Amino acid sequence: MNVLLIGSGGREHALAWALTASPLLDRLYCAPGNAGIASLAQCVALDPADHEAVARFCRQHAIGLVVVGPEVPLVAGLADSLTAEGIKVFGPSKEAARLEGSKGYTKDLCAEFGIPTAAYGRFRDAASARAYLAKQSKLPIVVKADGLAAGKGVIIATTRAEAEAGIDACFSGAFGAAGAEVVIEEFLDGEEASFFALVDGEHALALVTAQDHKCVGDGDTGPNTGGMGAYSPAPVMTPALIERTMAEIIRPTVAAMKKRGTPFRGVLFAGLMITADGPKLIEYNVRLGDPETQVLMMRLKSDVLAALLATVDGVLDRFSLRWHDDAALTVVMAAQGYPGTPRTGTEIRGLDLAASMPDVEIFHSGTRADGDRILADGGRVLAVTARGKTVAEAQAKAYAAIAQIDWPGGFCRRDIGWRAVEREQAAAKATS
Ligand code: AMP
Ligand code: GLY
Repeated sequence: MNVLLIGSGGREHALAWALTASPLLDRLYCAPGNAGIASLAQCVALDPADHEAVARFCRQHAIGLVVVGPEVPLVAGLADSLTAEGIKVFGPSKEAARLEGSKGYTKDLCAEFGIPTAAYGRFRDAASARAYLAKQSKLPIVVKADGLAAGKGVIIATTRAEAEAGIDACFSGAFGAAGAEVVIEEFLDGEEASFFALVDGEHALALVTAQDHKCVGDGDTGPNTGGMGAYSPAPVMTPALIERTMAEIIRPTVAAMKKRGTPFRGVLFAGLMITADGPKLIEYNVRLGDPETQVLMMRLKSDVLAALLATVDGVLDRFSLRWHDDAALTVVMAAQGYPGTPRTGTEIRGLDLAASMPDVEIFHSGTRADGDRILADGGRVLAVTARGKTVAEAQAKAYAAIAQIDWPGGFCRRDIGWRAVEREQAAAKATS
């Protein structure tokens, strides 16, 4: 089968890497792709916003499955347009993608179906948002633009003044149309985890657990990013917590979407806070995570294409996934300036040497080729990924590979995986 993958990040490079290992795959195309993906797939200049052009490409190239990486085309209804043309697509419909496209939609769904999440209010004007804020006694408090804001649009306010400024920023258009509506919610205390499940409209199949580092600086400090590194498994997600998450959050959501007549098909990504009362939903994404996918693909033993097809075909109840016991860890290398305005166009050297190290894969997130040179072309630029018996071992291998990369224009965190490594050390001490 020929597959068209939509996207250009490290998530898509990792998916392309896993897809090309599938015996079911004939040709892989990627739109638009990047310099790393180009070594695995034929990159094509297709605009995912032009649904008719994507459909035409699929007909011309006998595409058997379209895999949509990012959320924006899903929220814009690309899956609906392709499905209407009889083209198979992995990714939810526009209606089901509202789980990511509108935070208020998801909060209301949680309220209606008893899914644990932060207490909230939903507002269309600053005056009512401020009135609600005035009645809240606890700080910090969280102000969110309702719509897609590319990872921005979430203000964790430690003072009332900050919360008011956040409300005003949303309604004055700082986040464009995404801020036309605002959610104000309770601050949840705990450790975050990324939880993924394949969902075929009716059945959900959990993937292995992962954890992301959202802050730009070591020790989880500084501004929020798309994710500076990730690892799997996430030891915070014990088997009991996984089962609670499936029973209290994922399965009720799948049932609710089916009941509403807008069944969810694709991958449901729950951002969780593990609180003293158990797992609570921070938000849903309707796609795989970046950089979580990089570590998930390193651990996946089964054929990813078969899994995506089982999801689209609605047969997940008769499907299972096999995983490597090994841990995986990825460190994102970003361009200086990120998460503000990144400096692009700087040259990256030493990638071949780094990639030749055992158990290491380098996924490109934002690169372009200029002849033989690889140039930075985005905020997050590389995801240096390694597998090891433990998270600590994977971490050591990833940083050893990074030491081979010569890129003065880039930086990375030096402590990806610290929580898991601490837990591993504590467990080793307890048994020695
Ligand atoms: P979101 O885009 O909704 O995932 O929010 C981005 C990040 O803000 C999350 O990964 C959390 O670290 C943080 N965050 C969002 N909502 C809350 C909340 N209610 N309580 C604590 N932290 C939150
Ligand atoms: N790494 C978090 C995300 O993909 O949204």
